[in-house]
Parts: sequence; structure tokens; C-alpha cells
Amino acid sequence: MTERFDLQRHVLGPLLTYGLWSWSANVFRPALVMKSLGLYRPQALGQPPAPGKLDGGGPQLSKTLAEPLLLANAPGHYDSVVEFDHCSDDYEAAVKPFSQPVFDELLGLLLNHLAPDARILDPSCGPGIEALALARLVPDGEVVAADLSRGMVETAWRNAREAGQTNMAFVQADVGDPPQIFDAYFDVVCCCLAFHHYPDGAAAVRAFRRVLRPGGMAFVADPGPKWFNDMSAPWARLADPGFVQHRTGAEFQTLFRQAGFADVYWVEALPGIGITVASS
Ligand SMILES: C[S@@+](CC[C@H](N)C(=O)[O-])C[C@H]1O[C@@H](n2cnc3c(N)ncnc32)[C@H](O)[C@@H]1O
Repeated sequence: MTERFDLQRHVLGPLLTYGLWSWSANVFRPALVMKSLGLYRPQALGQPPAPGKLDGGGPQLSKTLAEPLLLANAPGHYDSVVEFDHCSDDYEAAVKPFSQPVFDELLGLLLNHLAPDARILDPSCGPGIEALALARLVPDGEVVAADLSRGMVETAWRNAREAGQTNMAFVQADVGDPPQIFDAYFDVVCCCLAFHHYPDGAAAVRAFRRVLRPGGMAFVADPGPKWFNDMSAPWARLADPGFVQHRTGAEFQTLFRQAGFADVYWVEALPGIGITVASS
């Protein structure tokens, strides 16, 4: 049977992918060269947290959840991730040239705090490539890879199985409404390039606070400075499935402070992309 022509899937999505790859090649790459030469001076708000490893909780859910834990009832806004269900197998190839440098910057900040027995939540894991990389960094801990898209959770689970990574669990969950088993369970929340999809950013950050143990930390990478948001939002509205909104560093700081995070640092880690680091 021939697939029906779909403007988003066949035209706008590929154009967005092309735009992301061009940004990575023409903007991220020179910025990384400048950074290696000490010539990249990013905009930042607040103070970076002092390096120090968080105590880790060790593995537990990965020992009990052999298969993905799926939602019995999807929330009303599930249609915002239906396109991610469709592209879960092809997503990595399309997005990795853009997301890898961003994730590398996030890791650079996270590694200052990561103990080998840490419990990490990736609340929007996509196909799970970053969650898999994180799981390798915490051999005595674990990574819970969650996503609202059932297709993404199942793809992430298959990818981890194929890679033979066992210290991982897979849970279908809305970022703003995590299951009770997550309460005060994690040392770290690590969220890469997903925040602009969340229907209720404040609820998401409150949930981050709820799932973290005292002293735990959240790391969020997402488009950030106003100039980039102004430039990219019209295109994101048109072509990024389930796009809700971009935020500035100041807006991220406010959201995290309102949710009760004590120290909130934001830095434009790469041109157009901010990383928020918040301590509970
Ligand atoms: C752009 S992808 C990013 C995936 C991955 N973190 C990466 O960097 O490649 C955004 C992800 O957010 C997920 N997502 C969107 N809304 C969500 C929600 N309300 N709760 C949890 N995940 C959500 C989507 O299903 C999708 O997998």
C-alpha cells in the first residue's frame, strides 16, 4: 500500500532536519573551535555549581523492570507526540548531527557531579541514545529512560537490549506527571532538547523537583537566548511536531526558582542553545 503524502513528514520535517544539520556544521563547529582556543565567551546567568560528586542511590528499578512500563491511559495531549511514535526508528539518524554536540556540552557540565552509582532520569529519552551513553557512565547506578511517546520508549528499550546495557529501565510517562515510583528516587535529571515540547513547563520543573532526592540536580539543554528563539520559533511552529515554546535563560531561571530549586545557573553553551543546571 502506498503511504499518503504528508506535508509535515515529507517536506517540512526534512527541511527542519536540513536546517539543524546546517546550524551544526556552520555555527556549532566554528564555535567549538573557538571554545578550544579559549575564544568563546558565552552569555551566562548565575554561578556555576561548585564541582562535587552527588551521592548515588545505586540500581533498583533496572533490576525490577525487565520490560518497558507503559501507560494504561495516555493523557489528553498525547497527539503532541504521535509524530515521534512514527519516526522513532529514524529519529537518531536525522537528529544526531545536531543533538550530539549539545549533549556533549551537557555532559561536560554533568560529569563534574556524576558518581558511578548515580540514578539518572532522562524524562524525554527519544530513541534512548543519550540515556545509553549515560548508563555507561554510571556502571554502579542506573538510568531510567522515560518518554511520553510509546514508540520512543519501545525503540529505546530495543536499542539498549541490542547494546547489552542492563542498568536501564524504560517507562512511558508524561514529564509533568511521573509515576509515584519516581518520587525522591533520582540523583540527576538530564533532559536534552525536549523542554520546548512540554505543554506545561512549570509542571515539568515541579516534577523534576519531586523526583529528585534532596541535593539532586537537574540539567536541561534547550534553545535559549532570545535572538535564537525569535529567529527559530516561526520555523519550529511550522515544522517541529509538538512544538510548544522556547524560553530564555531568565525564563528558565524563574521556572526553576519557582519550583523550589535553590541555585540555578544558565549558560549559552553553544550559539543558540542554553543549558540550565539547577540544584534542589
Ligand atoms: C526532540 S526529541 C528529543 C529526544 C532526545 N532527548 C534527544 O535529544 O535526541 C523530544 C522528545 O520529547 C518527548 N516528549 C514530548 N512531550 C513530552 C512529554 N509531555 N512528556 C515526556 N516526553 C515528551 C517526545 O516524545 C520526544 O521523544
